[in-house]
Amino acid sequence: MNRVEGQEKVTGHALYAAEYPVEGVAYCYPVQSEIARGRITGVDASAALAMSGVLAVLSSEDPPELAESAEPELALFQRREVAYRGQIVAAVVADTYENARDAARAVRISYEPRAHDVRLRDDHPGLYKPDKVNPAYPTDTEKGDLAAGLAEAAVTLDVTYTTPVMHNNPMEPHASVALWSGDGELTIYDASQGVSVGRDIIAAALGLPPERVRVVSRHVGGGFGSKGTPRPNSVLAAIAARAAGRPVKVALTRQQLFDVTGYRTPTIQRIRAGLDAAGRLTALAHEVAEQSSTLVEFAEQTAVSTRVMYATPALRTAHRLVRLDVATPSWMRAPGECPGMFALESAMDELAVAAGIDPVELRLINEPDTEPDSGLPFSSRNLVACLTEGAARFGWHDRDPAPGARRRGRWLVGTGVAASTYPTRRQPSQASAAVEDGGYVVRVAAVDIGTGARTALTRIAADTLGVDAELVRVELGDSDLPEAPVAGGSMGTTSWGSAVAMACEDLLADGKHGIADTTDAVKADSQLSRHAFGAQFAEVRIDVDTGEIRVSRMLGVFAAGRIVDETLARSQFVGGMTMGIGMALMEETVTDYEFGGFTNHDLAQYHVPVNADIERIEAVWIDEDDDRLNPMGAKGIGEIGIVGTAAAVANAVYHATGRRIRDLPITPAKLL
Ligand code: MOS
Repeated sequence: MNRVEGQEKVTGHALYAAEYPVEGVAYCYPVQSEIARGRITGVDASAALAMSGVLAVLSSEDPPELAESAEPELALFQRREVAYRGQIVAAVVADTYENARDAARAVRISYEPRAHDVRLRDDHPGLYKPDKVNPAYPTDTEKGDLAAGLAEAAVTLDVTYTTPVMHNNPMEPHASVALWSGDGELTIYDASQGVSVGRDIIAAALGLPPERVRVVSRHVGGGFGSKGTPRPNSVLAAIAARAAGRPVKVALTRQQLFDVTGYRTPTIQRIRAGLDAAGRLTALAHEVAEQSSTLVEFAEQTAVSTRVMYATPALRTAHRLVRLDVATPSWMRAPGECPGMFALESAMDELAVAAGIDPVELRLINEPDTEPDSGLPFSSRNLVACLTEGAARFGWHDRDPAPGARRRGRWLVGTGVAASTYPTRRQPSQASAAVEDGGYVVRVAAVDIGTGARTALTRIAADTLGVDAELVRVELGDSDLPEAPVAGGSMGTTSWGSAVAMACEDLLADGKHGIADTTDAVKADSQLSRHAFGAQFAEVRIDVDTGEIRVSRMLGVFAAGRIVDETLARSQFVGGMTMGIGMALMEETVTDYEFGGFTNHDLAQYHVPVNADIERIEAVWIDEDDDRLNPMGAKGIGEIGIVGTAAAVANAVYHATGRRIRDLPITPAKLL
């Protein structure tokens, strides 16, 4: 289905957070720390305050009132300590954006710097075992005898993969416009993936009851996780508006996003594995080192997919974290699964090469009956179908396994495959449906971050009501609507859709109005391993002189339950794979070891794929009928496209060149 808000968007009528016309709005510009660690000894705002149009300067000199329990990244100006370079340490409010920005440069901050440590190492003395990894997985798992499994193997592997810091770069930078009413109620137009949870977190930071805060995010220009929970801009707008006595807009620049809106943690991942003579895994260990800030423990779930993928008598996964003088890492499309599966699926390719087994075949040999770690049955698992269907469509059967053996003019050509998985979750959601204006209006505090959520929910409602989609209007993106979970974790459509369908059924019974709350239904979901699966196939070509790498074609085959809408689904899968190609070949934020923070801060130096980088890319899916998932029979599709993609490209690069690159991104320099 075409997007219901498509016309509104392409004609520029759809309003994004920074675009809401608000009378008397003032502008707030942040001042960022120039040191990576230390203490603020003084803030001299006198010059800034004397400048044209300046209304207020906020800093730890006179800390604004916030709840003591505010999440440390949101507890702006409460402490004198600096936790990372780029942290927001002051802010100027002025009548125009330009005046605020000019005055921000005139705020003089003195520091007492201390030695910092921003370098992740897998032998770092500060590495420790967090109590759990996100969102609530055990940190480590251990099954069987790893040493015995490795000792008896015919083929063994012990290698380390590394992935760099990566940044989400949504088209719409983070922005918030805050308005206080006369009786102390706050409205924020926010670039947010979750208005209900956003309201709760912002209210908690400000020490307000949630019912006094309203978050509105009707259109959001991408997030990928970076808007999954409120970032400092939301709280900054609120406290700046309180200080100025006027509505205030905070619109972060692309450069500022890199410092204050989170990033994908870098990882160092050791994989040990053994195969018997028949190609069956005898042991598999996946051990990860990653980082968080000194402010917040963010423990990414890098090795969890390894608990799901392959049958093995001995399986060990472990996560270790070190708290560095860096900003807090955060959500980025398939956090954990995505970097983790780069390592695991590269390792499977290395094992296949070492054992002389076709890499598709190796995965088929190691297909488990139940979830390897937990022993839970799968609600459905069609990885085998994805691999075999993909192999047939891609033309895999006559592949010559020899590396570095195919030349096409100046290009070395190779193909690679990787598998993917992503959990299928849903969370409680409410929704309402009503007969109104000669049609139907559905209300749910969902957010459409560009995925097509509004369109998918329109279709779900129309299907349930048995009416034409044109008769249905979905209202979302406002925390005053029925409470709903975040657009994240690939669980938006399943969570909101379940509630929307239930509300529409209730309307059909009542005739006029329907409401739904899926809290009890979600609690009653049976204990099963629920996962989407996929297989990505890539063909690359590499210029023998320059090392230039092109992905000539890519195919993804997915098993994701019922596909709610074909057009939207294809966009999600292709978008995920495109982002995966970026991860494989270009995306890397470089940590500045000397000064802290990052050395690259914009799209000129942080490259994401553009149209010219993508040649043939195709996503298809297999029919999957899974009635034990959720009432819709659908699995999430927002993230699985990126999982496995980088490994498929890396494996193709190996096949093309004979060079195994275990350190992302795979740049020409690493191949020459
Ligand atoms: Mo996504 S990282 O679950 O918003």
